[in-house]
Amino acid sequence: MKRIAVIPGDGVGPEVVREALRVLEVSRQLYSIPLELVSFDWGADKFLKEGIALPPGALELLAKDFDAIFAGAFGDPRVPSNQHAEEILLGMRRGLDLYINLRPVRLLDPRLTPLRNAQIADIDFVVFRENTEGAYCGAGGFLKRGTAYEIAIQEELNTRRGVERIILAAFEYARANGRKRVTMADKSNVQRFGGDLWQRVFKEVASDYPEIEANHQYVDAMAMYMVLDPGQYDVIVSNNLFGDILTDLGAAIQGGLGLAASANINPGKVSLFEPVHGSAPGLAGKNIANPIGAILTIAMMLEYLGYKAASVAVETAVRGTIAENETTRDLGGSLSTEQAGEAICKRMAGDGGK
Ligand code: NAD
Ligand code: IPM
Ligand code: MN
Repeated sequence: MKRIAVIPGDGVGPEVVREALRVLEVSRQLYSIPLELVSFDWGADKFLKEGIALPPGALELLAKDFDAIFAGAFGDPRVPSNQHAEEILLGMRRGLDLYINLRPVRLLDPRLTPLRNAQIADIDFVVFRENTEGAYCGAGGFLKRGTAYEIAIQEELNTRRGVERIILAAFEYARANGRKRVTMADKSNVQRFGGDLWQRVFKEVASDYPEIEANHQYVDAMAMYMVLDPGQYDVIVSNNLFGDILTDLGAAIQGGLGLAASANINPGKVSLFEPVHGSAPGLAGKNIANPIGAILTIAMMLEYLGYKAASVAVETAVRGTIAENETTRDLGGSLSTEQAGEAICKRMAGDGGK
């Protein structure tokens, strides 16, 4: 039995999660997957009502009783500090040591990319974002806050072990998946200490993978090349902050944030699956958000849990609906969130959405 914790979260989170769970249900039936789902109401509403973001014991419960976590999005204009999202999302990433943030960037249909002349084969890479440290470590502080002499210090933390394990994961993935090149993005021309550590570890790890080309780009140049020549990338590895920024850009070139999927992984342990996009407050409650990012995230979760055929079936159905313009308005279609989810379910069940 695979036990999944479901956290719909805020904004469009519950709307896209609802459709993703319908797709999961169809997968369960078609592939006889033993699944048990337990839902948790963690998010802005609970935080505003009860002052609780991540309840005490939550991380222990997730680690002990669940195989995977499926989440929508966290973030609400009523919580400008973003405190609850930080406690829940970053809390799970750090607390469950989900050190790999795996974010594929793939063009599913040539019509989706804003890049002129880009073909499917030109946009097909995977980003390995370090997910537990870097600029997200929460270290820093204020001096003389609120005065004209205020000082705000925001630290970035890079540990030898943290850097090594994400770079290793990127090379292992490349080897296992027949990828030819790993590109590391950093800003080592300015960030001399952290950058130096990343550079040394990258070279060390790369020497154990002679069949894989290891190259390096400064992150500002990578942002440019990702637009001008995305075909050069196979696997990208970067730190937490640069990985965050690059994967929104990656989402844009594959057709938009509504499509981008992501996994937060601690290999062999409970791992968290969530779309790349946020709570999109402007779309929330309108039944117009694109559920595909969440649905492709379900495909990633199914693969992680060992159900590769089901994962491929989800992806095939998604491609099919896109090809037939059975999409939400961000992709140029006219379907609601619910109708777009329904179209994918029908395609999976074999009646082609007719
Ligand atoms: P966002 O991802 O919510 O939205 C950015 C843009 O993408 C908006 O134009 C939005 O309409 C569009 N978009 C996002 N999801 C979409 C979907 N499913 N279908 C169609 N269009 C979609 O990012 P933001 O506006 O910067 O942040 C909003 C809130 O979400 C903030 O509180 C932020 O902190 C939070 N956030 C959470 C996560 C997460 O939980 N993983 C990720 C990013 C942002
Ligand atoms: C993401 C989001 C989060 C991040 C925010 C909401 C904390 O942007 O998952 O990409 O910065 O990691
Ligand atoms: Mn982000």
